Order: sequence, then structure tokens, then C-alpha cells
Amino acid sequence: MIVGVLGAGTMGAGIAQVAAQNGSEVVLVDLNQEMLTKAESSLNKVLARLVEKDSISEDEKINIQGRITYSTDIHDFKACKIVIEAIVEKLEVKHSVFSNLEAIVSQDCILASNTSSLSIASIGSVLKNPTRVIGIHFFNPAPLMPLVEIIPAVQTSDATLNFSKELISKWKKVGVICKDTPGFIVNRVARPFYGEALRIYEEGIADFPTIDWAMTSIGGFKMGPFTLMDYIGNDINYAVTESVFVAFYYDPRFKPSFTQKRHKEARFYGRKSGRGYYNYAEGTEIIAPNQDSILGYSIFERILVMLINEAIDAVFMNVASIEDIDLAMTKGVNYPKGLLKWADEIGLDKVLSKLEVLFTEYGEDRYRPNPLLRRMVKEGKSFF
Ligand code: NAI
Repeated sequence: MIVGVLGAGTMGAGIAQVAAQNGSEVVLVDLNQEMLTKAESSLNKVLARLVEKDSISEDEKINIQGRITYSTDIHDFKACKIVIEAIVEKLEVKHSVFSNLEAIVSQDCILASNTSSLSIASIGSVLKNPTRVIGIHFFNPAPLMPLVEIIPAVQTSDATLNFSKELISKWKKVGVICKDTPGFIVNRVARPFYGEALRIYEEGIADFPTIDWAMTSIGGFKMGPFTLMDYIGNDINYAVTESVFVAFYYDPRFKPSFTQKRHKEARFYGRKSGRGYYNYAEGTEIIAPNQDSILGYSIFERILVMLINEAIDAVFMNVASIEDIDLAMTKGVNYPKGLLKWADEIGLDKVLSKLEVLFTEYGEDRYRPNPLLRRMVKEGKSFF
């Protein structure tokens, strides 16, 4: 079976590697020859390193390399069973590319998009046979991150969904199924990790290092929110927040923060620009966190209950199953525990009362406890 990947940038090159390492023949197409050359040479370097570490043999390396064909011509997708698109995140460009693709591929070829933020239904709307459209959303870096969100649109057929699920498990990834809604699972449920941390900072409750310290040392997260935003890039992270906010019809739960906007405007993107919430210039003094445990716990608990409330909303709105929501957060963004399992452990009644304290104090919609949480507490239920 031949798999097509369109776009040889960060994601496309990674997806092609995943496919080839798991035995699929791949045609990788990009308009830009330079991107193809770059993708090929970086894959060669990665594979050479894997041979050095004895993770794969020299023969396997040669086989993997032999499975990928690099091309600038989308007509080379003719024999593909599926094409996964990973080009620029612009709806008009994806529309024109999807209708061009459909004219080239076979009748039963699946057309998937790796989009992070666009509606799959809209991408599929340009197709003569829209039952073949689906979202297959990898995480960066694709060869290392185990999670893949699989997003059937309203037009998607069962055959398209089933084929995609089987392919992702053949590629040894953890596939979760989610509704075609803004941010899918991870980029929706994770919003308070950034948004509530920024809010706590804006209220003057604590500085960046203290909030990061609370979330890592007390919460057990691998990275604190500000370190993570600096790593992702404030330009990218802000754009995702804003697009989720707009897509949710300006629901105040997803309201972006001025602090992040100003950092983005100042080009304080984070690591890649040398400065974000932290200064990465050599010799810069590192500011120590205030390791007051009462303060630390209150920061951690506030962000955690907001994350849990968001995960519960995803269950409430049938975005995905309870199991898939927890898998998504542990396998896609490395959370130390699934949020719903975490909620069970804390006790749903305790989660509810912490949210009620925030809601009463602020009177803002963003702190409104989810109706499902209230219902479950009333009925004495738990998620698992
Ligand atoms: P990128 O900018 O690294 O690569 C995009 C590639 O597409 C470039 O090589 C460009 O030459 C090529 N391209 C653009 N228009 C084309 C066309 N019409 N035909 C053929 N090739 C074309 O972008 P990246 O980061 O790999 O993102 C690609 C997609 O994956 C976007 O939809 C993005 O939202 C999504 N995504 C990105 C993630 C990330 O962390 N970077 C994570 C998950 C999804």
C-alpha cells in the first residue's frame, strides 16, 4: 500500500518517517525542492543515529530510505490509498489542494488533513466525494509523540474512519477518535494550562518562575506553563488560543491574555527568538521561584481544576470518550495523569467545591463548573 504525504515541512517529513519505519511505501510531495532535500537529509541523519544506537540495523535503514520517494509533482500520488496533507494552515490553500488532489487520485483514495485548527467538514466540502475526507492530527515531533487524533467530519464514511484507525495502529501510534470541533481534544482541553497560568500572573499572585515551579514540583508536570509556552513559541501558542476563542464564538473560557499578546507583539516568542517570558541570553541571571508551599498548592490546584473542568466539558459535549480524553492528554502532551482519572482521585465533590469558590469570587463564566460535574457529584458517580 502506498501512502502519500503532501508537504515536507516539520510535520510532513515526520509523518513520512513514521509511515516508512512501519513498513508503508511513501510518496512525499512538496512544491519546494529545497524542503524535500532538507527532509531527506535530516531523515538520513536520524536513521544513521538510530543505527549507531543499535535501534535499527543498517539493512533496516536502507529499507526505510528505499520506501520513500521524494517528488515535486502531485501526480505521483496517483497510486496512493491515502494522502495525508500537511501544508500551510490556510483554508483557501487547503481547499484548492484538496480539489486538485481528488482529480488525480483513485476513486477510493482517502484524503486526510493534519490540520490543527481548521474544520475537517469545511476542508472536505470542496470534494466531489466528501465521504473520503478525515482529520489525522499528529503531534510534533511526529516520530516521537505517540498520540494521533482521528477526526471524522460529518461527511466521513465508516470505511474512511475504519481504514484510518487501522493505519494509525499499524503505525504503532495511539489513535483517539474525536469530534470535528475546534482544537479537537488536546488543543481544547489544554487551554487552561496556559490561560489560567497567565491569569494568575496578571492578577499579581505569582511570577513566571513561581507558577512554573508549582506546576512541575508540586503538580508533577514535565514543564511549567511559561517554560512550555516559550518552547512552543508565543506566536504559535497565542495564535492557537485566539483561533480556539474565535471558533468557540468568543466563549470567555477561552479568552486570550494581554500578557501573551504583548509578548508576541514584542517578538518575545521564547527560545527561538532568545527571549520570551524568560531571557535565554547567556549569562542572564535566573530568577528563583518563591517556594512557599501554600502559595504553590493554591496555584497548582487552581490550574488543575480548570483543566479538569475543560476535560469534563469535552465528555459532556461528546467530543470524545472518557478513555480517549485521558489518553490524549497523557500521550499527546505528556500530562503526568489523565485529567479525569485525576479528578476521580481528588474526588469530584472537591473539584466542584474549588471551582465554586472561584466562580463565586469572580462571577465570571470561565469559572462556571460544568453541568456534568454537578450532576455526577449529585449522583455520587466517578469517571472510572
Ligand atoms: P511547515 O511550514 O513546516 O511545512 C509546510 C510545507 O508545505 C512546506 O515545506 C511548504 O513548502 C509546503 N507547501 C506549502 N504549500 C504547498 C502546496 N500547495 N503543495 C505542496 N507543498 C506545499 O508546516 P508544519 O509545521 O509542518 O505544518 C503543516 C500542517 O500541520 C499545518 O496544517 C499545521 O497546522 C499542522 N500541524 C502542525 C504542527 C506543528 O507543531 N508544527 C502540529 C500538528 C499539526
